[in-house]
Amino acid sequence: MANNTSLGSAKEGKNDEFYTQYSDIEAEMNAYVEFNPDVFRDKTILLPCDDPEWSNFTKYFASNFERFGLKKLISTSYAKGAGNKQITIFELESPIFDQDKHETHGKLFTLTRDTNGSGRIDTDDIEFNGYLEGDGDFRSIEVTALRDEADIIITNPPFSLFHDFMDWVAEGKKQFIIIGNINAIKYREIFPRIVKNEIWVGVHFNLTMEFIMSEDYELKGKAFVDSEGKKHGFVPGVTWFTNIDHGTRHEMLALDTRAHNLKFNKILKSRLTEKFGVSDYPMYSNYDAMEVPLTECIPSDYDGIMGVPITFLGKYNPEQFELLGMTGDVDWANNECSFFIPPSIDIQKKCKTINKTWRVQKVYVNDENGLPLIPIYDRLFIKRKGAK
Ligand SMILES: C[S@@+](CC[C@H](N)C(=O)[O-])C[C@H]1O[C@@H](n2cnc3c(N)ncnc32)[C@H](O)[C@@H]1O
Repeated sequence: MANNTSLGSAKEGKNDEFYTQYSDIEAEMNAYVEFNPDVFRDKTILLPCDDPEWSNFTKYFASNFERFGLKKLISTSYAKGAGNKQITIFELESPIFDQDKHETHGKLFTLTRDTNGSGRIDTDDIEFNGYLEGDGDFRSIEVTALRDEADIIITNPPFSLFHDFMDWVAEGKKQFIIIGNINAIKYREIFPRIVKNEIWVGVHFNLTMEFIMSEDYELKGKAFVDSEGKKHGFVPGVTWFTNIDHGTRHEMLALDTRAHNLKFNKILKSRLTEKFGVSDYPMYSNYDAMEVPLTECIPSDYDGIMGVPITFLGKYNPEQFELLGMTGDVDWANNECSFFIPPSIDIQKKCKTINKTWRVQKVYVNDENGLPLIPIYDRLFIKRKGAK
């Protein structure tokens, strides 16, 4: 999307400084609590990239500590983060406050009890527990020990370290709710686990999300400065990833028959004629599967394997569909995919000569000369559950 900061460019430029809005955190967490009111009860939650001064994750869970019945909230702050320029009141007013250490050391904050005798546990009871030995890097031994103590890890992590972050969470075998980019679906540490139903997308999927940006953020497009002087920017493709259950992934996608879609869905009809010059869903030439260009056009009466857009995942109900794999992974295609039908080596060579970016593991339909040269975007392979 033009004029938006992409998470890809955030990654390249290592711009990790943008902060999640309270309302976005609330909207996502509400879905887990609605599905299971006890989802956070007696749990220790670790927010590993979150300083109470600027993290709405800390503010949200501290404000809802009692309602959720949390056991403990742990927030760690990264010394090199832009947010660290502002000292939290919890740190500043603490007898162990140390200006020098503030600059270079990570910080540990916890919430477990009513410290001020107000009769309730909330943001005012967050305790500054001192400086970490290092800078608060989530990969450090000390933050990893906090990960091991926690039941659930929740945050918007640094996008430039998303792979490392997901590996770190997986290594701890913890529950998590984490913000990422829709492209992360394709990552080696994510997709195989989505297929195994060990990870899924959250309730809010593929959004253009508004974030609070750092002071040095260059305003462009729809970005603006609010009445408090804070810069706001928009990031496309934002998706929550989790392994905690929610209601959306149990909703059945309403489907029509193949004949109905082909007769009444105008977008489907024009896609098929414009791209493939056909009036029916085409079969791929290099996978034994049928192209379904729109999620809403998945036919209710097709028993075979179908290729659907990646955005299908936002509607994926594992009780309704089986997820088999994804285009673009040559190892999977060659070694695990039972319906991969690569053309002969001669044809592959010919296709590569005509188009240097041609790769057999992508998905194609034959052109008018019978060569697999009509490329299709990335696809997920799915099958209806219970199909013959
Ligand atoms: C995308 S921001 C999100 C901040 C906060 N979680 C939120 O949602 O408002 C990611 C944060 O991770 C911090 N960070 C960067 N590298 C880190 C690391 N190695 N360990 C821990 N935090 C890191 C950045 O300074 C930044 O504040």
